[in-house]
Formats: sequence, C-alpha cells, structure tokens
Amino acid sequence: MSNQLLAGKRGIVFGALDEKSIAWAVAEQCVAEGATITLTNAPVALRFGKVNELGEKLNAKVIPADATSMDDLTNLLTESVDVLGGKIDFILHAIGMSINVRKKKSYTELNYDWHHKTLDISAMSFHRVMQLAYEHDVMNDWGSILALTYIAAQRIFPDYSEMAESKALLESYARSFGYHFAKKNHVRVNTISQSPTITTAGSGVKGFDDFFSYSDKMSPLGNASAKACADYCVMLFSDYTRMVTMQNLYHDGGFSMMGMEPAVLGK
Ligand SMILES: NC(=O)c1ccc[n+]([C@@H]2O[C@H](COP(=O)([O-])OP(=O)(O)OC[C@H]3O[C@@H](n4cnc5c(N)ncnc54)[C@H](O)[C@@H]3O)[C@@H](O)[C@H]2O)c1
Repeated sequence: MSNQLLAGKRGIVFGALDEKSIAWAVAEQCVAEGATITLTNAPVALRFGKVNELGEKLNAKVIPADATSMDDLTNLLTESVDVLGGKIDFILHAIGMSINVRKKKSYTELNYDWHHKTLDISAMSFHRVMQLAYEHDVMNDWGSILALTYIAAQRIFPDYSEMAESKALLESYARSFGYHFAKKNHVRVNTISQSPTITTAGSGVKGFDDFFSYSDKMSPLGNASAKACADYCVMLFSDYTRMVTMQNLYHDGGFSMMGMEPAVLGK
C-alpha cells in the first residue's frame, strides 16, 4: 500500500543490517511512499550485513559511517545532500548496541569503559547526528528526525541492563534538541517506543523469546511488527504530523497502558 506520503522528500536511514532490522522495513516503506534516501551503517556492518543488497533494491546510495565518528557523520550528511540533490527532510536513527550485555556482564557489575561505549553508540550518536545536521544546516524546514527506543527507559526490565540508561538518554536528547531544532527551522524530533521485535539487536537481550511472548500477551493488540513501525515512521516523516515534536511515542499495541492481563496468568 502506498499513498505517496513522502513524495519528493529526501531522507537518511541509519541501522538497516538485514531484512529483520526495523530500519530495513522503514527504508522500504519510505521509498514505496515516494522518498529518495541514502542508507548508512557502520563499516563493519557493511561487510557482514546485507545493506548493500537493500541499497541496490531501493536505488539508494550506501554511505558507511560509524555513528561515534564526527568525521564519518559529517561526510554522511554532506554526501547525502549531494547525492539526493538538496537538503534533508527526514532522518531515522535506528542504532543500538550494548557492550556489557554482549560480553555477558550483569547490570550490577558493569564495566565502565564498555558502558561509555554503549552510551556513545546507542545514545550520544543521536546527539552527534543532530548537532552536525544543525551546524551544517542540512535539514529542510519542517523536517522530521526520529530515533527508536524501548519502554525500559521508564519501567524496569532487568535483562535490558545498561540499554535502559541509553534509551533514557536518547529520549532526553530528542526533547532537548527538539526545542532547538523547532526554533531554528521548525524541524521536529521524536522517539518511537517500539514493541519487542525479532531482530539481531533485539535477540541479543537475555531471555528475548520469553520477553517477546509476554509482551505479545500483555498488549491488547499484540506486539507491533517492524512493518507496522515502518508505517508509523512514514506518518511521522510526512506533512500530516508537522506539529508533533519532543515526544516519546509508544508504538506497542497498548502495552504501556496495561496493568494486568488475565491471559498472562493463563486465564
Ligand atoms: N528489536 C527490538 O526489540 C527493539 C525494540 C525497541 C527499540 N529497538 C531499537 O530499534 C533500533 C534498531 O534495532 P533493531 O532491533 O532493528 O536491530 P538491528 O540489529 O537490526 O539494528 C541495530 C543497528 O545498529 C547498528 N550499529 C551498531 N553499532 C553502530 C555504530 N557504531 N555505528 C553505526 N551503526 C551501528 C547495527 O549495525 C545495526 O544495523 C535500536 O535503536 C533498538 O534499540 C529495538
């Protein structure tokens, strides 16, 4: 289904690794809705992932960038403006990585060097992208910037570990930078708090399968899929949401409003 909601718009999509990635679905839907985009991921992900395949399919240039490198990000922004033929209308930040979770260090024994790296990759990278886009004036008026987050920023999910702090910081950056970008040229900045989704990053969380089915039962509409998330992103990149900014928007089938669900108790 396409309503050409993004006809004529130019965007940058971070974080498509393979066809399970949320960003993969978003990139496909943005192009189906009429946008032209560039794709980006860390150089190592370009070697192991399938983003080049997606680039060919969508006729989108793939520009490598480590999201912790100011030089890489500057190059990404300037090259994207060049390749797409003008300023940018939307950006999706879909980057997450916990070094402590990956190395199986529990939350009560964090290695702080790894914690710094986690915060840098998963949250500060969002500020870096926005700061550079602001400084180099690459965003069109009334543009839209989104990042993906999880409800562990507000509630306790013990195995989500240090990613809870990463997401809390990410959401705070959206509010704070949202203010400055709105004042500068009406660019809006929001985060989407997505249901658990079966992807490489998602499956890295301990006990993910149980987590996924618990959330699916707790949510009256069930877990939101990557494809549904892509539709929501399209709406937020479109001109129909021009006055929505500095928000954390739940896209979770109702999970965030639930107290008790009898089905979870087997009733
Ligand atoms: N899967 C879930 O359950 C879920 C739920 C809510 C939010 N999210 C968020 O959605 C976003 C996308 O994750 P996903 O679930 O699609 O998994 P994914 O593994 O497909 O995507 C994560 C991406 O981050 C990229 N990345 C890691 N380090 C990077 C770096 N230094 N520079 C640039 N890119 C880097 C990876 O290469 C990968 O493409 C993340 O922010 C994640 O936290 C996921």
